[in-house]
Amino acid sequence: MSAPPLLETLGLSRTFPGVRALDRVDFRLFPGEIHTLMGQNGAGKSTLINVLTGVHEPEAGEIRLAGQAVRFATPQEAEAAGIQTLYQEVNLCPNLSVAENIFAGRQPRKRGLIDWKSIHRRAAEALAELNLSLDVTQSLDTYPIAMQQMVAIARAVSVDARILILDEPTSSLDEGEVARLFDVLRKLKASGIAILFVTHFLEQTYAISDRITVMRNGEREGEYLAADLPVQTLVAKMVGLKDAGERLVHPEPPRADMPNEAAQAQAPYLAAQGVARRGVLNPLDLEVQPGQILGLAGLLGSGRTETARLLFGADRADAGDVRIDGKTVKLSSPRDAVRHGMAYCPEDRKKEGIVADLSIRENIVLALQAQRGWWRMISRARQRELANDYIEQLGIKARDAEQPIGLLSGGNQQKVLLARWLATNPRLLILDEPTRGIDVAAKFEIMDRVRALCAKGLGILFISSEISEVVRVSDRIAVLRDRRKVAELAGAKRSEHEVYDLIAGDRR
Ligand SMILES: Nc1ncnc2c1ncn2[C@@H]1O[C@H](COP(=O)(O)OP(=O)(O)OP(=O)(O)O)[C@@H](O)[C@H]1O
Ligand SMILES: [Mg+2]
Repeated sequence: MSAPPLLETLGLSRTFPGVRALDRVDFRLFPGEIHTLMGQNGAGKSTLINVLTGVHEPEAGEIRLAGQAVRFATPQEAEAAGIQTLYQEVNLCPNLSVAENIFAGRQPRKRGLIDWKSIHRRAAEALAELNLSLDVTQSLDTYPIAMQQMVAIARAVSVDARILILDEPTSSLDEGEVARLFDVLRKLKASGIAILFVTHFLEQTYAISDRITVMRNGEREGEYLAADLPVQTLVAKMVGLKDAGERLVHPEPPRADMPNEAAQAQAPYLAAQGVARRGVLNPLDLEVQPGQILGLAGLLGSGRTETARLLFGADRADAGDVRIDGKTVKLSSPRDAVRHGMAYCPEDRKKEGIVADLSIRENIVLALQAQRGWWRMISRARQRELANDYIEQLGIKARDAEQPIGLLSGGNQQKVLLARWLATNPRLLILDEPTRGIDVAAKFEIMDRVRALCAKGLGILFISSEISEVVRVSDRIAVLRDRRKVAELAGAKRSEHEVYDLIAGDRR
């Protein structure tokens, strides 16, 4: 690069109790480039961003903006200097309108008064850039999480910034939305903006990056031109191996056809018939056998999460029949579902999942304790044992089981959430985007573990916006489109291509 870096760090360090999150990191970001930070969960990516933007103070090292040493005491100061950031955990206000979220803190005013008309118009324009038309006066929480994420992105890109930082903005977006976001990023890049991007999706990394910085254990492992870094080498560098990337990127073929004939023949654990909710889901039939993984594929808004919520009793169905072990049951609350051996790991870990102030141990035992009833407390010793077991099994990176979960990296919080539901020893586990934010290496390990549980008779309903992942792990795939099941694929029919065709439907 001929131009000097726009943003640069020299020997940047930051320690948290028990962990060196950043260890003398040198990093450079050039104008007009898209630069991706890669690294395993807990490698220090978000911490680097947080220190750059005044969320955390560095304890050593220097930050330079356009050659000048800077130190931001708050994220607002970084914003004022032209650095716009979308943090990993989207921090919007669910009760405010879409427009208010896009302009919160910087509302245009007319003669001292907030100019609502202009806010609404400009919010709609910002969304139109992303090819979205939402009712900007609606409160944000009326939209699904992926849409909320698009709103956060619209907020980030709607300001004149010199630097745009996006920490895992695509973790809950479908392919169309990712494509739209990337179009916008390319436009911004062409206008000279420097973009720092974090993702765990290898394909996205290569689709958009000019340059890649790999982080490992708080250190900068290296900086590369994307074009010069083969994907296997990248993965090997992330995990700290010389060259084991191949195995990690392509670790397993899709499931063999009918891998589990015994399970096929078994009576379903759960059978839903005509389950529906007006305006949310059209009547739908589903069966999950013990030992089987039923994948739910579909675009955002196709009804995947809605299906999961109805089956789990989180929302009330207004038609249909659900049988468990052949007997009709009434699932009018998650508590009913849990009592029948169901568990639901939801997609929105912040809203429905973690309790940030509680320890990892407390977060893990939460569902199990609720299932047993609070009058039968699980002993401290047993709680510790459970927590340590899962920390080890799922490779949760933490100081110890007593650390508050809010202090873990995003991907590690997700693992704790999964542990919580595995700990209940369910018969049917609903996994809604379970590998969201989880690094490539850990992703395969986690799905292996889940499949091992299947071999012991656990049934799984698996939701993921990554079609390749759904195809790889599922025995059968129910394809949803426009809140309706349009097909079910089994055996040799399960291919990514087939699923894409069905999802696209008439739109192709
Ligand atoms: N506020 C905090 N207090 C204590 N420890 C923290 C804090 N923030 C981060 N850490 C620790 O610093 C390390 C790096 O975390 P960081 O969030 O930067 O990882 P990451 O690379 O963004 O991971 P992920 O891919 O999971 O998002 C982790 O061990 C994490 O637990
Ligand atoms: Mg992170």
